[in-house]
Amino acid sequence: MLRILVCVSGGGTNLQAILDAVKSGEITNTQVCAVISNNASAYALTRAKENGVPGICISPKDYADRAQFNQAFLQKVDEIAPDLIVLAGFLVNIPAEMVKRYKNRIINIHPSLIPSFCGTGYYGLKVHEGALARGVKVTGATVHFVDEGTDTGPILLQKAVMVEPQDTPKTLQQRVMEQAEWKILPQAIDLIANGKIKVVDGKTVMES
Ligand code: GAR
Repeated sequence: MLRILVCVSGGGTNLQAILDAVKSGEITNTQVCAVISNNASAYALTRAKENGVPGICISPKDYADRAQFNQAFLQKVDEIAPDLIVLAGFLVNIPAEMVKRYKNRIINIHPSLIPSFCGTGYYGLKVHEGALARGVKVTGATVHFVDEGTDTGPILLQKAVMVEPQDTPKTLQQRVMEQAEWKILPQAIDLIANGKIKVVDGKTVMES
């Protein structure tokens, strides 16, 4: 059984997609053992509670500096001792020490087709604003392993979504979530839980 920790900052619709997929059997061999939020008022914490999953808030605001926050965050993660950490709209930089300790055991969902519209400054609605400003006709979402960079780790799954002429950043964000994020994030977890994917030379390879 893969024990996963889901880290969130906001509404938690991706967390909900994971919880629903575990319930429906779309994700197998998996238990959501805890949710960590950096934001006490994140609705994702309510979703955790409603599903009987322990929800924990660790906010940088409660620590004197980033180093102390990082230490407390890593200590909490170590206590939970998850097999996999899922960043589902978690808008906090993962401490380098944690990336090292949990190598190939942290995944992130990003709302674009990496390497487009990713990296520093591209998160949430800003990603979709960037896609519309550039005038792309196709965008999408990516699940990738987390490495030392920002959105640079090995790619697990991607799904394309068409941009519509009338799109606003909000309508595009919603369509990318519905058509891509809520599908590929549960799929990626199921692949990992069932040992169907491995990382070779910085790239993922599917096991048959
Ligand atoms: C999602 O669109 C996710 O892809 C994005 O934040 C949103 C969280 O929504 N993540 C990033 O931009 C990370 N760079 P949710 O809280 O409803 O799941």
